[in-house]
Amino acid sequence: MKHIMLVFGTRPEAIKMCPIVNELKKRNGVKVTVSVTGQHKEMLKQVLDIFHVLPEYNLDIMKEHQTLFDVTISILSKIKEVLIKEQPDIVLVHGDTTTTFAASLACFYLNIKIGHVEAGLRTYNIYSPYPEEFNRQAVGIIANYNFAPTIHAKANLIKEGKDKDTIYVTGNTAIDALKFTVRVDYNHPELQWCNNCRLILITAHRRENIGKPMEGMFTAIRSIIEEYPDVKVIYPIHMNPVVREIAESVFNGIDRIHIIEPLDVIDFHNFMARSYLILTDSGGIQEEAPALGIPVLVMRDTTERPEGVDAGTLKLVGIEKENIYANCKLLLDNLAEYNKMNKAVNPYGDGTASKKIVDFLLTEC
Ligand code: UD1
Ligand code: UDP
Repeated sequence: MKHIMLVFGTRPEAIKMCPIVNELKKRNGVKVTVSVTGQHKEMLKQVLDIFHVLPEYNLDIMKEHQTLFDVTISILSKIKEVLIKEQPDIVLVHGDTTTTFAASLACFYLNIKIGHVEAGLRTYNIYSPYPEEFNRQAVGIIANYNFAPTIHAKANLIKEGKDKDTIYVTGNTAIDALKFTVRVDYNHPELQWCNNCRLILITAHRRENIGKPMEGMFTAIRSIIEEYPDVKVIYPIHMNPVVREIAESVFNGIDRIHIIEPLDVIDFHNFMARSYLILTDSGGIQEEAPALGIPVLVMRDTTERPEGVDAGTLKLVGIEKENIYANCKLLLDNLAEYNKMNKAVNPYGDGTASKKIVDFLLTEC
């Protein structure tokens, strides 16, 4: 019987891998093992609970203020034991985290085949995002099967010399997840608090933005809140303690921003769907927002998701506070500019990516 193992460890990987786990579990004739690294803890558990996924292994490596060394070394040594014991035929990894990189490296050392989900995303700037651009390029070198979400991602892989027979365009499993989470009759006390106001939803966590850039982003948002009495901001904050320190110092004393704990994915997707505008440096949100038609100002200098920018829903505004402030103001003041971005287009597939990936795994690998 074919044995497929999925290895993931952070919130976004879990959101985009659980639909594949659940699709695999519907099929006969395949053994499925889920190994989570526990690079995230609470934020990972939230997702596993929503999708009812119970991992066979949890390496439980997270520690507060973990460094890239801590994460890489712990995963590499702990996943080795699991892989040797289980001897899977294929290991599926997702995207570009350090879990993805370290798990793939372990498979390479043990001669185990790797299937890379969300393959081919690139900025071609190795420092942006950091270390994710390195992680995904490195996995790209050793992956045996590449599940590219779009033809643009496939083109990147072809350009890098990958064999086209290893690349399969599937759409993004984020859309599979969205189909399951967004509900018309959804409500929440925080949304009631925003009633009759324009809601700006924010998230920020990128390693390269921590410090001055993040302080600048938050200062721009603070200026917007102070200037627009009809705007309220909800910030479901990442659990990184350094991000929390910066947010608390900049937003201290403002009552039209609610900094709340990370939302589970059902809550978060429904908050997104009801926002006026989203400000973020996240990757996954750039895939989800175009499908929902909610304008996003991406607080980064680069993006590996140009499809959303081409579709018009995303605008790359960089990390300078003046630019973030000006772009936010434009969308609050100018309805024509807002309407240009406020349209639902979905470059990331029809929500059947997991089915396509599983069909491919069971018939072609
Ligand atoms: C990681 C990924 C990043 C991904 C992001 C998604 C790497 C290097 N970074 O970054 O690519 O975009 O996840 O969110 O792989 N923490 C908790 N509980 C949790 C999760 C995190 O307390 O459930 C705290 C811990 O103190 C931890 C810190 O957050 O040390 C940072 O977590 P880490 O996974 O190292 O970095 P992220 O910024 O989350
Ligand atoms: N998300 C969530 N709860 C939150 C914030 C985000 O479930 O409070 C979801 C979001 O919808 C997206 C993913 O988490 O699917 C993005 O995760 P994150 O920004 O941490 O990582 P990235 O996508 O940047 O790697």
